[in-house]
Amino acid sequence: MKGGDNMIELSGINHQFKIGTRGKERTIPVLHDIDLKVKKGEIIAIVGRSGSGKSTLLNLMSGYIRPSSGEITVQGQAVTKLDEGQWADFRLANYGFIFQSFQLIPSMTAYQNVELPLVLKGVSDADRKKRVSELMNNLGLAEYASHYPGELSGGQQQRVSVARSLILNPPIVLADEPSGSLDSENEKALLMMIQQLNHELGITFVIITHDEQVASIAHRTIRLQDGRIVKSESGRDSDEV
Ligand SMILES: Nc1ncnc2c1ncn2[C@@H]1O[C@H](COP(=O)(O)OP(=O)(O)OP(=O)(O)O)[C@@H](O)[C@H]1O
Ligand SMILES: [Mg+2]
Repeated sequence: MKGGDNMIELSGINHQFKIGTRGKERTIPVLHDIDLKVKKGEIIAIVGRSGSGKSTLLNLMSGYIRPSSGEITVQGQAVTKLDEGQWADFRLANYGFIFQSFQLIPSMTAYQNVELPLVLKGVSDADRKKRVSELMNNLGLAEYASHYPGELSGGQQQRVSVARSLILNPPIVLADEPSGSLDSENEKALLMMIQQLNHELGITFVIITHDEQVASIAHRTIRLQDGRIVKSESGRDSDEV
């Protein structure tokens, strides 16, 4: 596979937002000289104060925004050169997302929510059933399959939402404050799930967090300050070579 050991590479990234109307435009510099390599199978935590550029960095990695300058490579593919349609396909094939708000569809059961990406992709009934049941079993969600989101706790909803983001087997999962609205029990369950998925399936995670607990499961923690990486420290022992 192209890209060597690296899953995501950012080099020389700068980003400014432009705001205001014609004649009164203003540029807001947000990210400066970002160089970052995320290895395959790594869990990276991104920390930093509010406004330091964390979400912007994540949105650049997933192509929702384009860098003002610099190059981004994902799995060896120069994604900065993709057009919108190509990015949409690439994102669907390579990324899962964990949201703070679970964004489940209230009129669909847990099972149907997890199944949805497969339906949209046109996967056959039998294959969908097999894959959804297997994943929900693995994530300890089987007993909630027929519950609607309104009949689940916050932590259970979060896990259903994680299952939905993983149903297409993405090699990369991006998460923006995934435990922000969870109590400590549910947070623990979520973190164990992330570790399990990382370990068993080799999924690469990039997780924005304010939370020490989350940073403690990361192989590496990147600190942003005023749009610059000021510190990159190793966390727990990495189990890769
Ligand atoms: N679409 C946008 N247009 C203009 N400015 C923006 C836009 N999105 C973000 N910004 C600005 O960029 C800076 C970084 O925002 P970002 O959302 O990346 O911060 P963050 O580190 O994720 O903060 P938080 O921890 O509060 O989520 C902020 O000053 C913000 O106001
Ligand atoms: Mg943010």
